[in-house]
Amino acid sequence: MNDGSLDIRGITVRFGGLTALDDVSLTAGLRQVTGIIGPNGAGKTTLLNVLCGFVKPQAGQIQFDGRELTQLRPHRLASLGIARTLQGVGLFRGLSVLENVMVGANSQARAGFWSALLGLPRSDRDERRLRQQALEALEAVGAAELADSMPDTLAHGPRKRVALARALAAKPRVLLLDEPASGLSEHELPELGDLISKFAEDATVVVIEHRMDLMMSVCDTIFVLDFGKLIAAGSPEQVQSDPAVTAAYLGAADAGPAEAGEPPEAGPAEAEEPKIAGEGLAGHE
Ligand SMILES: Nc1ncnc2c1ncn2[C@@H]1O[C@H](COP(=O)(O)OP(=O)(O)OP(=O)(O)O)[C@@H](O)[C@H]1O
Ligand SMILES: [Mg+2]
Repeated sequence: MNDGSLDIRGITVRFGGLTALDDVSLTAGLRQVTGIIGPNGAGKTTLLNVLCGFVKPQAGQIQFDGRELTQLRPHRLASLGIARTLQGVGLFRGLSVLENVMVGANSQARAGFWSALLGLPRSDRDERRLRQQALEALEAVGAAELADSMPDTLAHGPRKRVALARALAAKPRVLLLDEPASGLSEHELPELGDLISKFAEDATVVVIEHRMDLMMSVCDTIFVLDFGKLIAAGSPEQVQSDPAVTAAYLGAADAGPAEAGEPPEAGPAEAEEPKIAGEGLAGHE
């Protein structure tokens, strides 16, 4: 529909013999936070990869604001206003915080940031605008004072903010967040929740996250994936009390020790964080 919503219909993705997504349909509305949860390997990141054009589905359609996106390439999607953060932090080590965020702002610039890196001519006006947008995005996530720092010198929490600012700098109409809370400590979650809600004041926001306390507080609607299939959808309360969801998470917890893990600590920044697939749903009142 022509209302700023993101519509996914019948998406199927196979990697060889593995069906990572099996006929998945969902809608993410404008000014809503739409959550996607599910045990490890459920297909969440794959779904985000389809949405930003990194992975081509074998079947299905994606529409944004009434417009067919399925066959568009990633850079076209970015220019339509679709931005994402990566499951890891994914900042460029050789660039300052401000420059990293300028890379995000670049999807709107006329002459490219990359051409600037290559020493090609570009207008001062573009440069100034990129800087301004990047600074505004850093301010929006409360990280303006980090502009001149190098990413390697920052703790995990501030780096996640910078990654968010980079996605925001493109002034996205759709913001896709893959595990924005991973590696953050408990006391950093409410602030992240507030930020995510703020992003949704003016955009369509899709969040993948294992931290159920955050998802319960920030999402308007939650979709639950398990082995590539959509097994539940509804308000956080509905999903939380859905026996199919509890069963999926308990099944995942039975499958191995990794699922019974602690909440992710702020460990080595780029490492795969431990997952807490089982936490929150079964025990959350
Ligand atoms: N490029 C790929 N090639 C082959 N298999 C893949 C590829 N990407 C994902 N998969 C597989 O697809 C399934 C879904 O993976 P995906 O990363 O989407 O899960 P996820 O729900 O994001 O899990 P996690 O919570 O661990 O991040 C997994 O079995 C994974 O191993
Ligand atoms: Mg993932």
